[in-house]
Amino acid sequence: MSWNDGYVTDTPYPNGVFTAMAPSQLNFSCVLNGYKPVSLASPFKYFELGFGLGQTLTVLAAAHPHAEFFGADFMPAHVSGARELAHSAGLSNLTLLEKSFEQLANGEVALPEFDFITLHGVYTWVSRANQQHIVQFLARYLKPGGVVYVGYNTLPGWATAFPIQRLVRELAAVHPGNSLQKMTDFKSLMAALVDVKADFVTGHPDVGRLARGFNDNAAYLAHEYLNEHWQPIYHADLVRDLSEAKLDYVGSAALSQSFWQATLSPEQVALINSIGNPVVREATRDLICNTKFRKDVFVRGARPLSARDRTAWLSEAQAALVAPRVTITPEAYDNPPKALAPAQWPAVLDALETGPTRLSTLSQLPSVQGGVDGDALRFCITLQEYGDLTLLDPTLPAADPEPARRLNTEITRLAHLHNHFTSLCSPVTGNGFHCGRLVRLVTARLLQDPATSDAARLSAELRPVLDACTDIDPTELASLEGDALPALVAQILRHRLPLLKQLGVCAD
Ligand SMILES: C[S@@+](CC[C@H](N)C(=O)[O-])C[C@H]1O[C@@H](n2cnc3c(N)ncnc32)[C@H](O)[C@@H]1O
Repeated sequence: MSWNDGYVTDTPYPNGVFTAMAPSQLNFSCVLNGYKPVSLASPFKYFELGFGLGQTLTVLAAAHPHAEFFGADFMPAHVSGARELAHSAGLSNLTLLEKSFEQLANGEVALPEFDFITLHGVYTWVSRANQQHIVQFLARYLKPGGVVYVGYNTLPGWATAFPIQRLVRELAAVHPGNSLQKMTDFKSLMAALVDVKADFVTGHPDVGRLARGFNDNAAYLAHEYLNEHWQPIYHADLVRDLSEAKLDYVGSAALSQSFWQATLSPEQVALINSIGNPVVREATRDLICNTKFRKDVFVRGARPLSARDRTAWLSEAQAALVAPRVTITPEAYDNPPKALAPAQWPAVLDALETGPTRLSTLSQLPSVQGGVDGDALRFCITLQEYGDLTLLDPTLPAADPEPARRLNTEITRLAHLHNHFTSLCSPVTGNGFHCGRLVRLVTARLLQDPATSDAARLSAELRPVLDACTDIDPTELASLEGDALPALVAQILRHRLPLLKQLGVCAD
């Protein structure tokens, strides 16, 4: 058997920072679902299996210098890319191993026990034998009380994709090119199936959406569809597999799932509530929602949290805006947060604009209902899912900002070369947050010279930089001509810079 065991290894996976994998978010999932979290106050240990190009892990390590981060991936190109990034940021608390799941499960590396073990986009792309190695690794290295995150392709949401994936694999088997060339040809075949109105495409709205998704990044598509062992699974299968490592399912890292009742009809809620068994309940909910991807959180020996401790934890927890307040309006969202009426938004946003704010403060604002796990929290969770806010675990200690500053210097330097790393790291929130290319280019200057305040001079400096970026869409570049660029830079300095200071990215 070849070392890659049917996994696509001739092209690197695209970059991405997955904020749901942050320790704070995993703890929020535990607490919202009534289970004890892991304290972040002590130097905890975190492991990511199959880290790809390692952006999530690098951001988390830089944001938590008091903790130790580890990760493994068997693809040398991934490991060397991630190591280069970690090295340029001088991250001494991050160990990146070039190891397979089998080597790890067999104990080929001396490792400590971990408080958090995470895997995103891995479990349903590898062979059954590798799934068993992963379970063995969890059984061997997770501390009692430790938290596991698994992000995976789920049935029934992927059910209609099986014939499409089969077609991809059949084409790939006879195609002489590499994975990227195979996927480019498959995109044409998929577009043709849509054009000729294939019954299978027109008869399944999901497949139509899938076909439109074939305009996505070819490297992502190759890793999504070309793997020999691609196999979406049911939540029940994962629960059963992980029970062998003594893991209990506690909830979802997509925190809005803790308030699932709010998004379903009263009849759907009643049907789910009539089911006693938790696995059958989740299976029914996945059918009602046609769930495609789950972000499941498990604990080894989940212990209930008393209602009093839960309220105390949530009261001390904080919320921090990571997008400028002026951009947060009901019109800005395709599905705006409904927990608060638009008339209530200004009071909550006024409070958040001053910096990280306790949930107890937000929940006591006039007309905000439901206490610390009420409307204000639900509002914050929706903003968080849009990437505009981060929730902070109350045990998160104040972090040394230097490692994050070094990583952000590197990320913003890379923005001059390509658009692959689209998040910055906040040592205040303990997480990454998305930032557009222009913001990152401006931040690069602010990190070099914190006194930068002249928008006209800054945009004159940035003009040749943008012109040299060959990967910027010409229409986007045209939209920055004339006075547009200085106006945008002035907006960034006015609205983004105060936020970047609050988030510990730029010096105050
Ligand atoms: C779809 S990618 C996800 C990468 C990353 N977690 C993310 O979401 O961006 C799956 C990753 O698992 C790694 N992988 C697959 N099989 C593996 C194995 N048997 N041992 C170690 N790593 C493996 C791949 O190299 C790849 O980086």
